[in-house]
Amino acid sequence: MRISPRSIEEVREAANIVEVASEFTALRRSGARFTGLCPYPDHSEKTPSFSVNPDRGFYYCFGCQKGGDAIKLVSELKNLSFVEAVTYLAERSGVELEMEGQSPEETRAARQKNLRRRASYKALAAAAAYYHKYLLKSSSGSAAEARDYLKNRGMELSTIEEFRVGYAPPRGSSDLVGTARRASPELDWRAFEEAGLLSPRGGERFSGRISFPISDRRGRIVGFGARALGDAVPKYLNSPETELFNKRDLLYGLPQVAEGIRKGNAALVVEGYTDVLMLYQAGIENAVATLGTATTPAHLRTLSGYADKIYLLFDPDAAGEKAIERAAATASELKVDLRVLRLPQDPADWLLEHPPEEFAGMLEGAMPVLEYSIRRITEQTRGADAVTRSRAVPEAQSLINGIKDPVLHEEAIRLATEALGVDRETLRAGREDRPDTSRSPSAARSSGRRMERSGPSREPLRHAGRQVLALILTRPDLTAEPLRSGVHAVPLPEPLVLEREDFAEEDEAALFSILRDNAGGDLGATLADERARPLMDLISALSAEGEKLYPSAALVREVWIRLRVLRLERDKRDTADYDRKEQLHSEVQLFQKALRAVAS
Ligand code: CTP
Ligand code: MN
Repeated sequence: MRISPRSIEEVREAANIVEVASEFTALRRSGARFTGLCPYPDHSEKTPSFSVNPDRGFYYCFGCQKGGDAIKLVSELKNLSFVEAVTYLAERSGVELEMEGQSPEETRAARQKNLRRRASYKALAAAAAYYHKYLLKSSSGSAAEARDYLKNRGMELSTIEEFRVGYAPPRGSSDLVGTARRASPELDWRAFEEAGLLSPRGGERFSGRISFPISDRRGRIVGFGARALGDAVPKYLNSPETELFNKRDLLYGLPQVAEGIRKGNAALVVEGYTDVLMLYQAGIENAVATLGTATTPAHLRTLSGYADKIYLLFDPDAAGEKAIERAAATASELKVDLRVLRLPQDPADWLLEHPPEEFAGMLEGAMPVLEYSIRRITEQTRGADAVTRSRAVPEAQSLINGIKDPVLHEEAIRLATEALGVDRETLRAGREDRPDTSRSPSAARSSGRRMERSGPSREPLRHAGRQVLALILTRPDLTAEPLRSGVHAVPLPEPLVLEREDFAEEDEAALFSILRDNAGGDLGATLADERARPLMDLISALSAEGEKLYPSAALVREVWIRLRVLRLERDKRDTADYDRKEQLHSEVQLFQKALRAVAS
């Protein structure tokens, strides 16, 4: 069973490489590209050499020479097979995969799965609309009670509408499924069940609760948080984990505030749904909430795609200190400025008593996460004798050792020596020197092999070959014809058609064959060629090189002929047969003449 090349092409086009790569590293726009730290785990770097080209759908790391398309990135960083990676991206972007050689049952099963997902989205959207309408329009006593509740909490209609807050009618009086099916008859009970909208005992899960629809980054509703009106326990009921609803990844409010976060280059992470809403209403349009979990590395990674600065706001009795330590490590990895602030009150409640303008002042009290973590460790030993204080040393050490950035690392040591009253040597002791992973043995081995294969005399040939390939990849308009029919130049008896043997390296020769076979086709067709798969690093490297060239038809002819000259010179050097050497010598001279003719 194979995924059809057409589907692969479609997935590649639908996948937004910037969005996909942003899940693994923080990217910044730089001209037509985006750059960031290389997300490959065996390449830890301090200055960004990872570059993403949204127009071509490619990434390339100038440091470790890894590159490719969204499919390759996902498969390598999530350890998925090619098929798994394509499937994953297809699901993310809603592409329906077409299979070749799939049994009819398999086709049916895949189509079924896709249909079920769509049905889930539809059921969730229907529920949000139904609850929202019930809250705003129903004349029932409970709906009036829900409206009063929100009003008493200071929530305005515009906020309720913007976030589609709703109220699920009480048990017995709700008819979500019936109502939804009148509009979309294809929805069955199972759709609502699979979407997590029903309770295990039958009936609707969120009955009698205020509903807060939770969306994914693309704005599709994937679940709900639902609050009891009174003091019922539990206060909040969330959707169960489903294929669509994953609390560790989702952030409440993100689609609504993404723009605000980007504009202000800062995100606030709060704990409650109502906090997001009330902040938004107060004009602070950059807050998201976790869904009853601590902030995860995945959350930070998501937010780092929108802003350089992230504030974690939490209330003092919340646990989650351990999570903050983990967050600190992730933040230093992502190079985001993470700050934490313990609040005296939930922002929603605080805003009822203070003017919103004061909020900014309060934010200024947020502490860089590093400082916060070290203070927390030392707080536990404050006022204690030296012996007790020294017990905090290993904890501080482990924190410090987790910081890879040299500047932050120094800073952490300084803070810890001050706070713990120990000297630097004590803190440094026990610090294992991490091997520099960017030069792992395997990396050294493979670069060694490359050196061997291409001796110094082959370098110009290799360079010329790469230049040809880069031109073909980036300028099919200029190169399709020369690729098919060759280039003309004055003293040549016939046009020069390049061939596989003109390339110094096997990979490059293989790529040339594919490009020649697809001459005139677009890049998508080339990439869909199965033979191209192992060549992704090379393709994206060359395509990055190609962008730096300013080609013309004349340049194309020139590099074509130069490659042939260099290849003939190599052949001449390599052959032991004197007759052959002689013949090659005259060919070299002919092509050199042609080269001079086109270059002038
Ligand atoms: N939460 C939850 N389940 C609970 C309690 C809380 O999932 N039983 C999550 C919710 O995401 C909630 C957040 O934790 O928004 C913060 O909890 P809490 O501060 O107790 O609630 P608030 O959001 O402040 O709710 P409210 O202001 O309406 O009391
Ligand atoms: Mn609250």
